[in-house]
Amino acid sequence: MARTICIANQKGGVGKTTTSVNLSAALAHIGKRVLLIDLDPQGNASSGLGLKKSEFQDLNIYHVLIGEKTIVEGTYTTRVGSLKVVPSTSDLVGAEIELVDTQHREFKLKQEIQSIASEYDFVILDCPPSLGLLTVNALTAADSFLVPLQCEYYALEGLSQLLNTAGLIKKNLNPNLHIEGIVLTMFDTRNNLSHQVVAEIKNHFGEKVFNAVIPRNVRLSEAPSHGLNILEYDIKSIGAVKYLELAKELVHRVDSLSVQEQNQLINNDKDIKLNDNSITEEEING
Ligand SMILES: Nc1ncnc2c1ncn2[C@@H]1O[C@H](COP(=O)(O)OP(=O)(O)O)[C@@H](O)[C@H]1O
Ligand SMILES: [Mg+2]
Repeated sequence: MARTICIANQKGGVGKTTTSVNLSAALAHIGKRVLLIDLDPQGNASSGLGLKKSEFQDLNIYHVLIGEKTIVEGTYTTRVGSLKVVPSTSDLVGAEIELVDTQHREFKLKQEIQSIASEYDFVILDCPPSLGLLTVNALTAADSFLVPLQCEYYALEGLSQLLNTAGLIKKNLNPNLHIEGIVLTMFDTRNNLSHQVVAEIKNHFGEKVFNAVIPRNVRLSEAPSHGLNILEYDIKSIGAVKYLELAKELVHRVDSLSVQEQNQLINNDKDIKLNDNSITEEEING
């Protein structure tokens, strides 16, 4: 059965889509069957994987969520054989509104994913920068959520809100939900603050922070404008190397957990709590 991982952070521009696309591509590269579902009306993950809007504007995640089409019908192949995508367009804004009055509106995505879960090793959900119904659907459908955090002074701002939302969803809609981990993005080796933020976040979250830290790398920002993932665009770039490291680390983590440990993770409510989310200036400056 696929492991469904929601890439979430209600802040925009922290690297959710870059991580969704390149982690998915890296997982496919190491032999995993991956489905990336674009849940952001901006559709950046869809275009980042080389799909043209004209190909999918009449059949995409919007039509799946409102029940007009099945997820199988909304799935497109990419150049990377084992990586498939359910794309998105700005129509998705409408789905949030149209679903408000429907029954089980939080479970629409979960129901669809359940029907195809045996065909994939990973289902990756690229969330929009909000905690609205789309993100609620994603957190309800997911086994776990992965949080990209930008290595900047305000990295943790808003994180407690995300963790609170996840906690509520765990309590009311998805008891198995837990945090997969935190991925530090846009790390700048020359910037002292970046180093301090990494140290501080590792201090707060310990083993939840992935060892693979994604650096700021211009190749990562160029790749989507060519409709290419980083492995296709420049496999030797540091961005490609680090996303491959991240994929291997994720697979290792998932594979090495026994069923008992998985259950412990799920039952450990501490996972979805942040005791002290405020990093003070003193802490950062030592
Ligand atoms: N590691 C990185 N190095 C350089 N640019 C990056 C990196 N990660 C993301 N970007 C760029 O930052 C911008 C925001 O990233 P994106 O992944 O779209 O964030 P989000 O999905 O959270 O809004 C994009 O222009 C993207 O190309
Ligand atoms: Mg995005």
